[in-house]
Amino acid sequence: VSAAEKMERDKVELGKLLFFDTRLSADRSISCASCHNPQFAFTDGSRVSDGIRGHQGKRNAPTIINSSKLKLLFWDGRAATLEEQALGPMVNPLEMGNTHEVIVTRLRDISGYRDLFASVFAEMNFTINHVAEAIAAFERTVVSENSPFDRFRAGDTSALSERQQRGMTLFFGKARCSVCHSEPLFTDGRFHNLGVGADKPLPDDGRAEITKDVIDRGKFKTPSLRDVASTAPYMHDGGLATLEEVIDLYNRGGNPNPNLNPRLRALGLDESEKADLVAFMRSLSGDGWRCIAAPTSFPGNEVPRYTMAPRQ
Ligand code: HEC
Ligand code: HEC
Repeated sequence: VSAAEKMERDKVELGKLLFFDTRLSADRSISCASCHNPQFAFTDGSRVSDGIRGHQGKRNAPTIINSSKLKLLFWDGRAATLEEQALGPMVNPLEMGNTHEVIVTRLRDISGYRDLFASVFAEMNFTINHVAEAIAAFERTVVSENSPFDRFRAGDTSALSERQQRGMTLFFGKARCSVCHSEPLFTDGRFHNLGVGADKPLPDDGRAEITKDVIDRGKFKTPSLRDVASTAPYMHDGGLATLEEVIDLYNRGGNPNPNLNPRLRALGLDESEKADLVAFMRSLSGDGWRCIAAPTSFPGNEVPRYTMAPRQ
């Protein structure tokens, strides 16, 4: 391997340590992996996330699988790069509750981390941007490939069951899912209002929080459907527990509200067609990320503790 390749590999390894290290949070209790846990396909398996000191956020933690391929990050699209994104949760009072200064000071005090940053970035006085860069390098390795759907597309007609093939025809045809969930990631990268959570006393404004435009009220980023069978519960508020419930939402044409996407109309799917669509979505689960597990040891004497149980 070339020197550049080795450096990139070391950067990924450093980023992986940081991603799983609870010392990035103020009270050393929460890591990125607490909410993006490989055991739950890099989500937390909960409706909304538990952050530091039991604080609950208002949104469901999306998976980071394939996140490097997304144009905009977060449900409201407020970050454009993984580097930019990673800086947010560290200082979010409901998530890791820390400051960038404290994180850098804490990491610089750990000789093992000092050495790693020195070899990866040739930098003793590393900054929070180097931390974010390493984490992003690790996230770029968390990808999903080789799903039954991909094998079918590549010519292996036995990769999908008959039910899944019927579901595929519905998905790209009568049910019009692919209008928004377009290939290859099964997202158009755009924002739409399905009326999810619109009946709450204080509905989440979604995209409008960023654009300040009423036309964007209640719109959320179309999530990728890659590995969706492993990332329940669903939607920005985690309000739907199963893929069957998601299909029911679409079958009735979304939830009524003033800003509902005009494309959504009652679909008239029968029970068998609904099951076909769910079966098709299960064919989008791939591998690549499945071999990634938490590191077994970290720099420094302190062994970070994990909370890695489902809390749904
Ligand atoms: C307390 C739980 C929690 C922690 C800790 C946390 N996240 Fe998240 N993450 C979330 C939630 C919730 C969202 C969605 C928030 C939103 O859209 O407003 C999210 C969104 C993301 C996204 C965007 C995914 C997409 O499809 O748009 C990425 C990437 C990500 N987090 C990476 C990280 C990294 C890296 C860390 C550590 C530095 C981290 N997260 C720490 C809960 C968490
Ligand atoms: C008008 C665009 C649009 C159409 C058409 C559409 N979706 Fe969606 N889909 C979205 C958006 C936007 C969300 C997130 C909404 C939210 O959280 O409020 C979503 C969420 C989902 C989710 C939840 C994924 C997750 O990780 O939480 C699934 C599953 C899903 N859609 C499947 C389908 C299926 C199946 C169809 C066809 C019956 C379909 N979608 C049609 C835009 C669309």
